[in-house]
Amino acid sequence: MCGIVGYVGPRPSQEILLSGLARLEYRGYDSAGIAVIDGQGDLGMRKRAGKLSVLRDDLASHPLADGTTGIGHTRWATHGGPTDENAHPHLADDDKLAVIHNGIIENFAELKAELESAGYAFRSQTDTEVAAVLLGREYAASGDLVDAFRATVTRLEGAFTLLAMHRDQPGLVVGARRNSPLVIGLGEGENFLGSDVAAFVEHTRHALAIGQDQIVAITPEGVEVTDFHGAVVEVEPFEVTWDAAAADKGGWRSFMAKEVAEEPEAVANTLLGRIRNGVVEIPELDGLDDLFAGITRMVVIAAGTAAYASDGHVGKYAIEQWTRVPVEVELAHEFRYRDPVLTPETLVISISQSGETMDTLMAVKYAREHGAKTLSICNTQGATIPRESDAIVYTHAGPEVAVASTKAFVAQITALYLLGLHIARIRGALSPSEISQSVRELEAIPAKIRKVLDTETEHIAQLSHWMADTRSVLFLGRHVGYPIALEGALKLKEITYIHAEGFAAGELKHGPIALIEPGQPVFVIVPSPRESALLHAKVVSNIEEIRARGARVIAIAEEGDVAVLPKADEVLRIPLAGPLFEPLLAVVPLHLFAMGLAEAKGLDVDQPRNLAKSVTVE
Ligand code: M6R
Repeated sequence: MCGIVGYVGPRPSQEILLSGLARLEYRGYDSAGIAVIDGQGDLGMRKRAGKLSVLRDDLASHPLADGTTGIGHTRWATHGGPTDENAHPHLADDDKLAVIHNGIIENFAELKAELESAGYAFRSQTDTEVAAVLLGREYAASGDLVDAFRATVTRLEGAFTLLAMHRDQPGLVVGARRNSPLVIGLGEGENFLGSDVAAFVEHTRHALAIGQDQIVAITPEGVEVTDFHGAVVEVEPFEVTWDAAAADKGGWRSFMAKEVAEEPEAVANTLLGRIRNGVVEIPELDGLDDLFAGITRMVVIAAGTAAYASDGHVGKYAIEQWTRVPVEVELAHEFRYRDPVLTPETLVISISQSGETMDTLMAVKYAREHGAKTLSICNTQGATIPRESDAIVYTHAGPEVAVASTKAFVAQITALYLLGLHIARIRGALSPSEISQSVRELEAIPAKIRKVLDTETEHIAQLSHWMADTRSVLFLGRHVGYPIALEGALKLKEITYIHAEGFAAGELKHGPIALIEPGQPVFVIVPSPRESALLHAKVVSNIEEIRARGARVIAIAEEGDVAVLPKADEVLRIPLAGPLFEPLLAVVPLHLFAMGLAEAKGLDVDQPRNLAKSVTVE
């Protein structure tokens, strides 16, 4: 939550900051601001409530003097509503110092009381301004921004990425991070800071990831990273593997439309380089067989789409079946606070697109501190969660910008499946031919998703149009169809703001069937009759039960399943696949439907209200 960008170099910084913020806007979009030290050595600042376009328009009509040192921020409000005053940057030291912040400063109230009793005044309701005023006081004492910054951050509790610059030290931006993301972009005679690499990828793909409780000072000539005590630390360089075009809309009407269309590539790229002669070999896990050999239990933790809405559950069914190691799935925020049983034989697998979700990060740290082994599945290089884990398997979905997670979701299931097959091979739980059969299924998925997109997009757009005034939609599924029902419901709530719920179809008669009234739309994920005749029959019976009560049934069924035809009002077709692989196909119509309905209602599909892409506060 909140996007942060910093620049020092020879170029005018305003446009660099604004285009960096445009790429980070998915992290928060209730207000935005920039501060720049201009050619005269004055610090100029502009900030506005609303989306970045409001700030842009303001700057276009009332230009700010430009300069070559600057910081910018796009906000998701925590302390203080989304107003001009609460937007960042916050100024201090007679408006000579500017600060931006992502995270929550938990001890801000006591710090504020201390500063107020020393005579300092505040203009906003934010925790950030407290850090700015504290930094201003320290600067007045030391006259050195890095020293003052160190003295300030060591007094802060909570999670933060902070950037600051001072009029009297142009050509310098300092940053610090604790439990919140910050990466460095290395240019030629210029350097960048960003919440993630998207902030600067159009200028450089050379990056450095800084660690916990570290401070970075960037100047045009160089970068110095120190810990909170001042000791210089070496940081890991990495190359960004995608270019700026990958994070652009590229002619699509929305990022979500683009990202749903990229689902086939997300799966294909996640498989790339990890299958050799029908055998799964994940290069990142080379030499880590010991991590898997002695485990007696796995716990998958995540939040939102990555967990609640199913990856964890889909993965549970597959990984448990393949490895014969018990797998539990838990929401990261519940896991962390319930004193779970963890041993060195427990492997905790976290899943996160951003790699920054605070709930998941805290759960990973907790698991490590309590002796478990940790592995993360993540889509973002340089992110915090992989850095805190013993092992990492990257999904290669490319940058996901729309708040609603789509292509990352199919990439996460793919990575979990690869991991399951990898562990099954190491533990000898599956024969080589069983593994290669699953590998063949996985390799066929991208073309099958493409087929769903080719054949059902138009149909679903029409369906969404007809259903534009629908006030409630239910989703039913069994076995791996159940988490897909949850995902369908979450996506719909998230971007259309209507009531949506997903149920295990078997649960229907235990309560939810009372919701069915004439005309109630219900999506039903129908298992394959070839692969699971018994489950298929059960789901068809569930359809009969809801139809008898007037439900309008939209079935997602495999090609050739004629049994559903007379029972459903609409049938959305998916190609044939093994039972564990159906979720990768059945979810695609649900992503298309949520997007179609949001569009039919005239809503912003990429930036739904109240949300941000990356939830970096607990
Ligand atoms: O970055 P992460 O995968 O850790 O994010 C987890 C959730 O916040 C995320 O999946 C959220 O639920 C999506 N907006 C759902 O579409």
